[in-house]
Amino acid sequence: MDFYEVIRKRRSFRIYKPDMPEEEKIERILEAARLAPTWANMQGMHYIIVKKSENVKAIWKAIGQRQKFADAPIFIVGAISESNSGANVIKYYPVDFGICFEHLILAATAEGLATCWIGWFNEKKIKKILEIPDEYRVLGLTPLGYSTKPKGEVKDRKPLNEIVHYDKF
Ligand SMILES: Cc1cc2nc3c(=O)[nH]c(=O)nc-3n(C[C@H](O)[C@H](O)[C@H](O)COP(=O)(O)O)c2cc1C
Repeated sequence: MDFYEVIRKRRSFRIYKPDMPEEEKIERILEAARLAPTWANMQGMHYIIVKKSENVKAIWKAIGQRQKFADAPIFIVGAISESNSGANVIKYYPVDFGICFEHLILAATAEGLATCWIGWFNEKKIKKILEIPDEYRVLGLTPLGYSTKPKGEVKDRKPLNEIVHYDKF
């Protein structure tokens, strides 16, 4: 899939088929995340691939948006420690997280898989379920699988003339 097609086709999918994505696809997606840039190349991101069905169920519960999500066979949970990134005027670990996770999500789209960036969840519960060490922050997670039905391309975005400025704000 062409890069710009991937950008247009990435949507937030909330209902999944129970079918497991192919292992080679998961590996390629993780490789795309691995190649993402990070502050001073510190590479602080970790990815927990959750496949065990009791853990998948526990994660759904910890997200607490059960009514909106269903049946994904896998979750990918990202974790980063503040000390594994840098800071000057701002702390860069959320930036590193966002870049790496978006690489992963776009790669999944290119593989024909569905994702949904989830930022609203009980971090404490997720860390407990997955035994993530205290110093790590979970800033996002996504289901991974096949959507039950296709969605149209991205729409409902502000036009460029509202967000782009030339030479001054
Ligand atoms: C940082 C972030 C956090 C998000 N958290 C949630 C969430 O907790 N639950 C949810 O249903 N969607 C969540 N979304 C999905 C957004 O609602 C969605 O990307 C947006 O409405 C645009 O729709 P689209 O992704 O289909 O283009 C999140 C997206 C981002 C980027």
